[in-house]
This record gives sequence, C-alpha cells and structure tokens, in this order.
Amino acid sequence: MKKITVNASKKYDILIADNLLENTGDLILGVAKPQTVAIITDDIVDGLYSKTVENSLEKSNLKHIKYVIKSGEESKNGNNFLKICEFLAENQITRSDLIIALGGGVVGDLAGFVASAYLRGIDFIQIPTTLLSCVDSSVGGKTAIDIESGKNLVGAFYQPRLVICDYSTLNTLSDEVFSQGCAEVIKYAVIGNTELFSHLQKNKKDFDREYVISECVKMKRDIVQRDEFDKGDRQLLNLGHTIGHAVELKSNFEIAHGEAVAIGLCMIANASYKKGLCFEQTKNDIINIIKDFDLPVSASFSADELYKTALNDKKRTGDTIKLIIPYSIGDSRLLKIKTDEILSFIEEGI
Ligand SMILES: NC(=O)c1ccc[n+]([C@@H]2O[C@H](COP(=O)([O-])OP(=O)(O)OC[C@H]3O[C@@H](n4cnc5c(N)ncnc54)[C@H](O)[C@@H]3O)[C@@H](O)[C@H]2O)c1
Repeated sequence: MKKITVNASKKYDILIADNLLENTGDLILGVAKPQTVAIITDDIVDGLYSKTVENSLEKSNLKHIKYVIKSGEESKNGNNFLKICEFLAENQITRSDLIIALGGGVVGDLAGFVASAYLRGIDFIQIPTTLLSCVDSSVGGKTAIDIESGKNLVGAFYQPRLVICDYSTLNTLSDEVFSQGCAEVIKYAVIGNTELFSHLQKNKKDFDREYVISECVKMKRDIVQRDEFDKGDRQLLNLGHTIGHAVELKSNFEIAHGEAVAIGLCMIANASYKKGLCFEQTKNDIINIIKDFDLPVSASFSADELYKTALNDKKRTGDTIKLIIPYSIGDSRLLKIKTDEILSFIEEGI
C-alpha cells in the first residue's frame, strides 16, 4: 500500500492499494469518530460496491445511511445538492458525523460540495472508483456542481479528511470510462514525469496501477501544496484542457471529457511544434501515446468554431489567457498569451 500525505489547509492521507474497501470502517476510525456515516453514491457504483463498504462500517460498529443519485454528469446539479442536504438534516446528521463520497468524479464533486456547505462544513472522505477520480478529482479539494450557464461554476475548495483509493474497483469500469482516465494520466506524465511517460509507452493500458496512480497523486499533491487555490501553478493541470474544453463544448458533450483532453493534448503538441516551442519528437511522442491508448487525436471542428468557444473559457483573465505548453515530455509550463493569439494556436493545432 502507498500512503501519500497532502499538507494543504487540511492535512490528510491518500491510501492507494487494492481491496481497501473492506477496511473502510477501521480506516475511518483512524481519522474520525463519527456517530453516523452518510454514504453518497450513484446507482451504478451502489450496485457494485456499497455492500462491501456497508459491511465494513457495520464491523466497525458505525451506523450508516445512504443517498443514491442517478449516474452521470446531469446529476451534479443544484437540485440534488439541496435534496442531499435535506436528507442529511432529516437524518439528524451533525458536524461530528461524516460523509463518504463513493464513486467517480461526479459523486466526489457533488458530495464534497455538500460536505463543504452542510452545517457550514462537515468531514468527508473520498472513495474514488474511476481512474479519473483516483488520479485527479478526489485529491486537492475542488468540489462543485454544474449550473445552466456552465460546468463547475458553483463550488468550494474543501479538502477531504482521507482518500481511500482502492484500485481493484477499476476492474469493473467500461473500457470507455477507463480510457477517459488514461487521458488524464498521460497529461500528468507530459506535465512533469518522464519515467511515468516511459512506463506508459511500454505498458500501455496494462500499466502498474499502484505505481501510476501514486505518481499522478504525488504530482497533484505537490502542485496543490504550492497553489491550493488555483492562482498559479495549479493551472498546469489544465494542459490540453483549454482547447479540449472547447472541443467538448462544441460537440455538445458528445465527445467525452477524457477524449476531448486527448484531442486537446494533440492539438497543443502540434501547435507548440509548429511555433518552434517543442521538438518534433515531443509532438510525435504525445500523439503516438494518445493513439496507443485508443484515444482520439483530432476532431472535425474548424479553428474559428473552437476559438469562439474557447473565448468563453472561465480560465481567461481579462484579455489574456494562460496556455500550458509541452516544451518537452516532463517539462510543461504556463505561457501567458493575448486572448486573440489562441486562434493561431488552434489553427496550427489542427
Ligand atoms: N474536483 C476536481 O478536481 C475534478 C477534476 C477532474 C474532473 N472533475 C469532475 O469529475 C467528473 C468526471 O468524473 P468521472 O470521469 O469519474 O465520471 P463519473 O463519476 O460520471 O463516472 C463515470 C461513469 O462510471 C461509472 N462508475 C464509477 N465507478 C465505477 C466502477 N468502479 N465500475 C463501473 N462503473 C463505475 C459511473 O456510474 C459513471 O457512469 C466531472 O464532473 C468533472 O467535472 C473534477
């Protein structure tokens, strides 16, 4: 088992191993003494993993209740946020109790936001069950819901008490959802980890889960410790996301987030090469690894369409935007450009 400690506004551990779910109760008692534990999960994960978690809580004499949302991004909304708060209040959940977010990033973001706001904040732990949530969303304390005007527009920075990352849960993921997470893993390697990149090149989807998840989580931990509130370095994690997000929006979410990130990575690699910011080998390595993971490398939108969509990106400040450039594998850095310069990056990226 790997244990990685995050020293942010709250200090907490991330435990990474297989078959951890059956010890959930004891692991919770190591960090908190709740009267009642409220499990928040989605209907797919519920059928697969709630029983194991509930049995473990019972073995540790922890009373538990459960709220199940429908699986999918549409559930990450204000209505569910309020319904869960009502559910917690009806069950007399107090500040000495604890919430478990059992599921992927949708459950983690929603349950985390509930935890940040209910009674002005109660403890929660993350039990991520998708690759994306293991390497990204369960770590670092960003919680959010979507509103009509956009994704993740309402939320809070709120760190969990503990993250239990049991990667045996990844065995039941569909190929598609697993691949989505792979795009984020590749992103970490390109940002700052050449060894991880070589491991992925060599092993493709059969990578060593404990090693790969730990490396990504350590990178995220380091970035979050330097910039918990996303004012500088944390934006490095947006590599491939500025253009990727435009692709995702333009497709009306038909192209899934991970696929859009993969396309965004290839486009920024192409553009960086054409602008003389990275070598041809770096660009080829990025595009080839995306292909090796069965992820898409391009989309059929015009540069103009993507530019107009990218202009609405919330990461923009005034008339400048920060693009993350892969100068070489393992060395990506922020480049501040004038907003209208994005158009030429997109044109070169296509
Ligand atoms: N907070 C952050 O820092 C952060 C970072 C990145 C992404 N996100 C958010 O994460 C969300 C995406 O997360 P996701 O990709 O995990 O999606 P998700 O939570 O929707 O899960 C994807 C699908 O997999 C199913 N699933 C989950 N675990 C499973 C398992 N073990 N076996 C079988 N099926 C399983 C879910 O029911 C769902 O249908 C987005 O809302 C995004 O905004 C947040």
